[in-house]
Amino acid sequence: MSREHILQIKNLDVQYYTDAGIVYANNKINLELKAGERLGLVGESGSGKSTLALAILGMIKPPGGIAGGEILLDGRDITKLDEEETRQMRGREISMIPQGAMNSLNPVMRVKDQIIDSVIDHELGLGKEEMEEMVRYALEAVELDRTVGNMYPHELSGGMKQRACIAIAIAMKPKVIIADEPTSALDVVTQRQVMQTIRRIQEEMGAAVIMIGHDMGLMAQFVDRLAVMYAGQMAEVAPKEGAFRAPMHPYTQMLIESLPKLGAKGEFHGIPGITPLLRDLPPGCVFNPRCPQSFGPCKEVMPKFLEHRPNQWVACHLYENESEPARS
Ligand SMILES: Nc1ncnc2c1ncn2[C@@H]1O[C@H](COP(=O)(O)OP(=O)(O)OP(=O)(O)O)[C@@H](O)[C@H]1O
Ligand SMILES: [Mg+2]
Repeated sequence: MSREHILQIKNLDVQYYTDAGIVYANNKINLELKAGERLGLVGESGSGKSTLALAILGMIKPPGGIAGGEILLDGRDITKLDEEETRQMRGREISMIPQGAMNSLNPVMRVKDQIIDSVIDHELGLGKEEMEEMVRYALEAVELDRTVGNMYPHELSGGMKQRACIAIAIAMKPKVIIADEPTSALDVVTQRQVMQTIRRIQEEMGAAVIMIGHDMGLMAQFVDRLAVMYAGQMAEVAPKEGAFRAPMHPYTQMLIESLPKLGAKGEFHGIPGITPLLRDLPPGCVFNPRCPQSFGPCKEVMPKFLEHRPNQWVACHLYENESEPARS
């Protein structure tokens, strides 16, 4: 196992057991994260991004469950931790800025008490003064005035609320921060400011970040590597340059092609067809019904997720013969 990886996800399966059937939300996910790196996680709505984030945080609740695989944090499989151990890990080692975080703030609690609340659970043995110091650090890190600590969520603008959520997430200086669409409810200017704040904090703390989002334009500016999910599976993981300039998976290619060339905001659009139901996946490659390059094996055989170019991992039959060692 490589020492430089802070997080290693191996063959992770996460499923939701619903009345309509099993939802295969994460299928054989493989992903590694280096200490201090910024990884973007993209994919259409329902592709399983939040599920993966929740799994990493030990927060998959019934009707969901981890059905297989490992999640190694610093080499330790966190899927094996008990509830108390998971709670201790959360916030301190890995923390999340949840999707729709702004709305998750407690409306009847001052901002600083919400920061303290997230820390108090951890029984770090901090005194009152040290707690105050932590609040000061967290607010300063997200560029909120100290007085904001005494305010209630309704007194804050959208951008300030989002910063307050980030302050809660980073108060204990975790090694891994997962930000689930941290800017989707904000206007473009505020989005950029919040992204810059996350980036600065991430650099100062040396934390690794998994940034979940739809906006490829923001991703292009923020990340070192890009992971593309489709229908609960990892389609491609590549360094930013590879993903944007030489995408290999036809789905990634279509995502990149659909970007407005000079537009500031690069939302997904213009990809024909719909995502398959995760409880009724097609045989073979899950993307084959929408894939313009589908051929022979695609309808029957699920492609393996392989490193077809250096550091560029792709699940696609187009390349499977390519990577076999040449025999002559
Ligand atoms: N609690 C749940 N019970 C049943 N199914 C669920 C539950 N949570 C998620 N799912 C299903 O799992 C699949 C993946 O959902 P998930 O929220 O991980 O997608 P996502 O990529 O984060 O989407 P979005 O971009 O809309 O946030 C979807 O089909 C969703 O309906
Ligand atoms: Mg989501």
